[in-house]
Amino acid sequence: MKVNIVFGTVYGSAQAVAEQLTAQIQQAGVEVELREHSQLSGWLPPAEQVLLVVSSTTGQGDVPDDIAPWFQALKQQAPYLPAVYYAVVALGDSSYEHFCGAGRQFDELLAELGAKSLLTRLQLDATETMSPEQDASAWLPKFLAAISSR
Ligand SMILES: Cc1cc2nc3c(=O)[nH]c(=O)nc-3n(C[C@H](O)[C@H](O)[C@H](O)COP(=O)(O)O)c2cc1C
Repeated sequence: MKVNIVFGTVYGSAQAVAEQLTAQIQQAGVEVELREHSQLSGWLPPAEQVLLVVSSTTGQGDVPDDIAPWFQALKQQAPYLPAVYYAVVALGDSSYEHFCGAGRQFDELLAELGAKSLLTRLQLDATETMSPEQDASAWLPKFLAAISSR
């Protein structure tokens, strides 16, 4: 099952996590594509494929500006996506009131659109880890297992 990765970032951490996951998923022999923001306009996650959203949070629980247009388009268009599988890796900081708010918003939106959650959202807390890439790596086997059981 092909994995499509999209990311939202302000300072680059979520992009680094997305790039590393892309490389590791490829190494695991699974087809994967990291979609740049310029490739998101008008794009809908295809049926029978996996959407992996990797996003940090900005403002007060907000989606980063680079991926916000796509998030808003999905919200407005509200396509029905019952054959799309998804997972969310959320980067945040628990000293903020709306911890991992962007990841939560993506999770809720995709569930509303009928997409199927593969596993519980991974939340990476900047107060607890200096290396979100390592934490995402440790989580990856769970994600790969969830894909292969579909
Ligand atoms: C101005 C600003 C606002 C932030 N707001 C939140 C927030 O509301 N909730 C949260 O969990 N983290 C928040 N964060 C923390 C970032 O999401 C976190 O540091 C993340 O690792 C940054 O990843 P990035 O480099 O991909 O942008 C905020 C950080 C900044 C600088």
